[in-house]
Amino acid sequence: MDPYNSQLIMFLVLMAMVSSGCSIGVNWGTMATRQLPPEKVVQMLNENRFDKVKLFEADRKILEALIGSEIEVMLAIPNYMLKQMSEDPEFAASWVDANVTSFCYPGGVNIRYVAVGNEPFLTAYNGTYLPLTLPALTNVQEALNHAGLGSQVKATVPINADVYFSPDSNPVPSAGDFRPEVRDLTIEIVQYLHSNDAPFTVNIYPFLSLYGNTFFPFDYAFFDGSNKPIKDGDLIYTNVFDANFDTLVWSLSKAGYPDIRIVVGEVGWPTDGDKNANIENARRFNQGLLQHALSGNGTPARKGIIDAYLFSLIDENAKSIAPGCFERHWGIFEFDGKPKYELDLFGSRENKGLVAVEGVDYMPKRWCVLNPQARDFEDLPKNIDYACSLSDCTALGYGSSCNHLSVRRNASYAFNMYYQFKDQHSWDCDFSGLAVVTDEDPSDEKCQFLVMIAQGNPVALHRTVLGILLAVLEVFIVFLLLVS
Ligand SMILES: *[C@@H]1O[C@H](CO)[C@@H](O)[C@H](O)[C@H]1NC(C)=O
Ligand SMILES: *[C@@H]1O[C@H](CO)[C@@H](O)[C@H](O)[C@H]1NC(C)=O
Ligand SMILES: *[C@@H]1O[C@H](CO)[C@@H](O)[C@H](O)[C@H]1NC(C)=O
Repeated sequence: MDPYNSQLIMFLVLMAMVSSGCSIGVNWGTMATRQLPPEKVVQMLNENRFDKVKLFEADRKILEALIGSEIEVMLAIPNYMLKQMSEDPEFAASWVDANVTSFCYPGGVNIRYVAVGNEPFLTAYNGTYLPLTLPALTNVQEALNHAGLGSQVKATVPINADVYFSPDSNPVPSAGDFRPEVRDLTIEIVQYLHSNDAPFTVNIYPFLSLYGNTFFPFDYAFFDGSNKPIKDGDLIYTNVFDANFDTLVWSLSKAGYPDIRIVVGEVGWPTDGDKNANIENARRFNQGLLQHALSGNGTPARKGIIDAYLFSLIDENAKSIAPGCFERHWGIFEFDGKPKYELDLFGSRENKGLVAVEGVDYMPKRWCVLNPQARDFEDLPKNIDYACSLSDCTALGYGSSCNHLSVRRNASYAFNMYYQFKDQHSWDCDFSGLAVVTDEDPSDEKCQFLVMIAQGNPVALHRTVLGILLAVLEVFIVFLLLVS
């Protein structure tokens, strides 16, 4: 084929993908001390042509910002609501009414899924949500059906991938099945989802496979081939994502549901907080995933485009770091909406940059650092601990972006983070007299001493007021035209 034709075909395939809405989705979490204005984030989502987003909670401001955009929304109900959701159909109905129905009108929000709970079967929850999940799912779907939305909005449950496994004695996807402890419950959920034409949603994390196992073959976590592929009968696996996905496919087949739709609710790679969490690996993983998911090649056991939501959109500096320091660094965008690396969202191998969130307001350019004059360091460790416990020092740890700092710059990093978290109040840069404010940026090439984004957004407010004035003027002109 000559290059012109192949380019044309590439273009047509791309257009078909774009017009049929086949692109990647993204998880938009909000566990950060400062939120970017939702309308600016939505504008950024549109400019980058994300067409699917997953929200962890029905945040009114975000839903309002999504009004009028065509972005498909998966809206989650947090685990703490599952008990009431499961016990009280009225509670489910009023949640659906307030958070779904009221946004589902022509030109409103394109809500397509309600995610009931988030990984409710995680062993860390000690079984708390096991008996609640199916009744909650049922109540939510029934409420959607009663609201007349049943055919367009499907309830599903994002489930952690460790509900299924392959035995150590035969670690191949075709030997996969649901874990005995949760097998019956999971299959009941699958049955219910299937009867509603709703997808099975699963979160798959190759990063955690690597993080949890020092002997894990590094390249097998990525999509560009592995020198140690796994053979499963006639099928060959070159990456752990496919092997994991197909273990689910086999588990579902054995339960009698070989064709149920699968949505990957979360998949991604963090950029800091661990030796394997960096920009290079994150880009390698996410770009590989995008190309693979959108290619239509599918996995060895299931062909077709893989429906997936990247985890995640923006870094969240208030997430629990119980699972690891990387938890606050999953974003493909920094806390302030700047892309961390180039990512071609349509998998067409173009090196196109991502568009940043525009018009972000920052606090003044000043930092809190260790006073160069300080001589008495007795109280230093105590002060660093205090600063870190109330801010975010995950970039200081082993293998992280600021792990190379000297003891003194370590202290500055901690002090600054606390000072930024506390709105740069002068009294929050003291630390028993050890700290001073500077307007010289202490960052180096690898380690960023950040300046926090400003709370509130006067610029956006002015724009909105202007927008309203323009709209009023427009109506007035139309009125004049009509009466004349
Ligand atoms: C809508 O969702 C939000 C966020 O989860 C929740 O706080 C609120 O109670 C819900 N509304 C109703 C009426 O259930
Ligand atoms: C689960 O049990 C462990 C040990 O009994 C306990 O430390 C932990 O807090 C429990 N977690 C939850 C979510 O109940
Ligand atoms: C800086 O702080 C981090 C986290 O507290 C620690 O792991 C690291 O060893 C410190 N570096 C120095 C040079 O003290």
